[in-house]
Amino acid sequence: MLTNATLRSNGPFPPGQQDPAGSSLFTMLRAVAWAHRSLSHSSSGFSARMQSSGAAGSGVLAERVAVLTGSTVGIGFAIARRLAKDGAHVVISSRKQQNVDRAVATLQEEGLSVTGTVCHVGKAEDRERLVAKALEHSGGVDFLVCNAGVNPLVGSTLGASEQVWDKILNVNVKAPALLLSQLLPHMEKRGNPADTFFCLSPSQTLVILFQELGAYNVSKTALLGLTRTLALELAPKNIRVNCLVPGVIKTDFSKVVRTGCPQPDMQIFFLSRIGQPEDCAGLVSFLCSADASYITGENIVVAGCSSRL
Ligand SMILES: NC(=O)c1ccc[n+]([C@@H]2O[C@H](COP(=O)([O-])OP(=O)(O)OC[C@H]3O[C@@H](n4cnc5c(N)ncnc54)[C@H](OP(=O)(O)O)[C@@H]3O)[C@@H](O)[C@H]2O)c1
Repeated sequence: MLTNATLRSNGPFPPGQQDPAGSSLFTMLRAVAWAHRSLSHSSSGFSARMQSSGAAGSGVLAERVAVLTGSTVGIGFAIARRLAKDGAHVVISSRKQQNVDRAVATLQEEGLSVTGTVCHVGKAEDRERLVAKALEHSGGVDFLVCNAGVNPLVGSTLGASEQVWDKILNVNVKAPALLLSQLLPHMEKRGNPADTFFCLSPSQTLVILFQELGAYNVSKTALLGLTRTLALELAPKNIRVNCLVPGVIKTDFSKVVRTGCPQPDMQIFFLSRIGQPEDCAGLVSFLCSADASYITGENIVVAGCSSRL
């Protein structure tokens, strides 16, 4: 939520300058222009929009701290790189030490401010370790990106065992909420208007087209509800909650839908290509920035198309 305090400190107008008439429209157009610039596609996976300052300590997210789960490869890694390039200190994590070490080393070699630790999001002690690691940098946290997700079953919803349901719901739904509750006191004390929490949920294209992912789809649909509920709950604390909703993005995780399920007609994707992890990263950086100070409770689709008006 945008308060007087946030307008003073981080609003779209310079200190002392009055917000002109029609400011909400002006702010919206700025945000739309920003998003348009960030999201305009090129045919290559890497384009000019993916370039950021690249320098640790400068950029739109300078002096901010971002914690990411499931961020050693794929979409999470692309988001980690982008937030760090935009100036944030980024804390990377995943279940396997060697993956954390490799991801941290790669980004540090690029001159980015990154640390990391092992965190299986379903384990309370791992989440505590992640919180402690995040606080090492400057004693607080600004952004939490809950990217880790699992899908142990390709099959019908009613064919899922109780064990499968428990695993999917623990990792995909409970863990983001529990981790946020552990980090919340440290986000609150930063008092920044752009403090923000994200989770990732597959887009409706995935839900509609790939019926073999039943229990997973149910869990990810629950994240849409979690986003709305937490956005309402945390608005008085100036913490925004949004959900990135990717379509089919080329990662190891999506191999099962790219190769194992009946393939959809590619024409359903207006842009006739599979998404790349980097296609998701600019949006997250924008949503973390002060330009997105008035955006919360949204499920934003990055899928090459969307059935929404
Ligand atoms: N790719 C798509 O098409 C697509 C579409 C919609 C939504 N999504 C969602 O986007 C997220 C990322 O997917 P991705 O495609 O980028 O996957 P990915 O390339 O397979 O990467 C998954 C990452 O999460 C980590 N991880 C897995 N289980 C974990 C756990 N229990 N706790 C902590 N970290 C864990 C993995 O590292 P370790 O093995 O070291 O743990 C890895 O860093 C998932 O939530 C997925 O549901 C993906």
